[in-house]
Amino acid sequence: MSEHMEERDYDEYRIIEDLGGWRRTHHNNELNASNIGEQVTLMGWVQFRRDHGGLIFIDLRDREGLTQVVFSPEHNADVHERAHALRSEYVLAIKGTVGPRPEGMTNANLVTGEIEVVVDEYKLLNTSDTPPFPIEDRVEAGENLRLKYRFLDLRRPALAKNFILRNKAAQSARRYLDNLGFLEVETPVLTKSTPEGARDFLVPSRVTQGQFYALPQSPQLFKQMLMVSGLDKYFQIVKCFRDEDLRADRQPEFTQIDIEMSFADEDLIQGMAEGLVTSMFKDTLGMELPAPFPRMTYAEAIRDYGVDKPDVRFDLKLVEVTDIFQGGGFKVFAAAELVKVMKVPGGAVLSRKEIDEFTKFVEIYGSKGLAWIKVKEDGEWQSPIVKFFSDDEKVRLQERVQLEPGDILFFQAGQADIANTALGNLRVKMGERFELIDESAFAPLWVTDFPLLEYDADEKRYVARHHPFTSAQPDQMKTLASDPGNALARAYDLVLNGYEVGGGSIRIHTPEQQEVMFKALGIDEEEAREKFGFLMDALKFGAPPHGGIAFGLDRLIMILCGAKSIRDVIAFPKTQKATCLMTEAPGEVASSQLRELGIRLREKVQE
Ligand code: AMO
Ligand code: AMP
Repeated sequence: MSEHMEERDYDEYRIIEDLGGWRRTHHNNELNASNIGEQVTLMGWVQFRRDHGGLIFIDLRDREGLTQVVFSPEHNADVHERAHALRSEYVLAIKGTVGPRPEGMTNANLVTGEIEVVVDEYKLLNTSDTPPFPIEDRVEAGENLRLKYRFLDLRRPALAKNFILRNKAAQSARRYLDNLGFLEVETPVLTKSTPEGARDFLVPSRVTQGQFYALPQSPQLFKQMLMVSGLDKYFQIVKCFRDEDLRADRQPEFTQIDIEMSFADEDLIQGMAEGLVTSMFKDTLGMELPAPFPRMTYAEAIRDYGVDKPDVRFDLKLVEVTDIFQGGGFKVFAAAELVKVMKVPGGAVLSRKEIDEFTKFVEIYGSKGLAWIKVKEDGEWQSPIVKFFSDDEKVRLQERVQLEPGDILFFQAGQADIANTALGNLRVKMGERFELIDESAFAPLWVTDFPLLEYDADEKRYVARHHPFTSAQPDQMKTLASDPGNALARAYDLVLNGYEVGGGSIRIHTPEQQEVMFKALGIDEEEAREKFGFLMDALKFGAPPHGGIAFGLDRLIMILCGAKSIRDVIAFPKTQKATCLMTEAPGEVASSQLRELGIRLREKVQE
């Protein structure tokens, strides 16, 4: 029994009744002044009970909202007497009459704030233990407690409304794609590993001991097979599984709107995707997103924003200054692969303490420090490093970035990817610190022309940046052989407010090209056969040109809801440690189950 449970006291007021044929007439957000005088039946949970002036007031809550109901001794003495026993989270059905709230008692913040329902009769449908935290939009309870009692947390209207919106968005997507002739086709969950760059979740086979299924990281290969099958246009709202480190915008299982089209090029797919996103915005927020969405190449994104998913709701561009300091007097910059700066107007107000915190922040990305220059009101530069700059360097720096009084200039020097990522992420911090971001704005952006491959320093080989089925741009096949790191892919991401909400590509559709790709990835024929034999076969039997995209539905909904974490738009999310606090998954299993699977745990785990 949990610490929050208490002895139930079934006194005479607490006899649980059944619905006895009562039917709900309205949800608790529906009644307003136009309903005054109507007889209604409402059902829901007791949000609050207030006794005053001989009257008992209850806010009755359901998924949709709150309605104030009143128990009056003059109106019905017996019902009023019984109402004293009502407590928070009891479940009620009430019959009553809609009336106006008395002068001065209306609540403009509530849709039902002009009315109240005077109770004629009520049924107590269930009692409730005192909840471990109050069911209110203002939350003080820690997230772990709320995840353990997720079924209660979901009663909070602020959270419930995310799922109402999520449903609208998903239905909107289905409608849009169905209208365009896409078929919703289900693909297997017990399957073989598809490489999307994360670790697989494995499921042991009982029938063939020692063998494992993998849960799909995405339905990528199946949707390509469906194109070879001639199904032409496919979509699926589908769970994907990736065993990777979790963050606020990542879950081990998440949902994609997964799409594939035959005989399609980038323009067709991106146009369809824009239509999909704009209709989801329209159907949920009633908002028109201007299309076509702006475009930026990957190279431009890295150059100006340091990251491949820039938040373009605010400006603050990065500027490269490597050439100015190359071989100069400040050692940290002189030999660096990349030196980049970001000027923050008005940033000179930052305190030493804040700068120290930002220095710690960039360290997350592998940065070794955060040099800066503050420009004082008289124009003088204040900085721990300018003493190392020559006059010429100072002049050239000023020419390039045009510092003005009140500005701060941040530097990142070192390995290009680290300097870019660190400064790009610091940019977002500055956007928040100086309130440069319009929180009500939505800024979609296509990022295109991604590199096909990236070098994996741990594995000492190239890996596919998107996945190994993405085709190179037509003029890039030679580059792929001679300079693999610089070959460009027919791949695109959709970025929204600094989040990658979708990604896709035009696929390889001939066995010859697929072989070249596997070769570039260091996958030999035998391995290709073993892992992707069915793909190699399928490409030999008249595969049409095809391509597609997958949206991260959870991320899209998170942005549509203005939520800070995707956990707020997933009904039963997992913690940072990939556990479910409510069901306590993952859990141990009986040794008999393991025996059936032919699995013995290593001793260390057994302890
Ligand atoms: P990709 O790996 O880019 O592409 O995934 C598509 C989108 O899924 C979302 N996403 C996630 N959301 C929440 N938690 C996660 N752990 C997570 N990982 C990814 C992102 C991302 O943009 N098969 C290809 C698509 C294709 O080529 O058609 C794929 O899965 O929003
Ligand atoms: P140091 O010479 O290491 O004491 O650094 C002098 C200043 O340069 C400090 O403000 C550091 O935070 C900063 N700094 C050190 N390394 C880097 C780097 N790789 N990029 C940007 N700034 C740096």
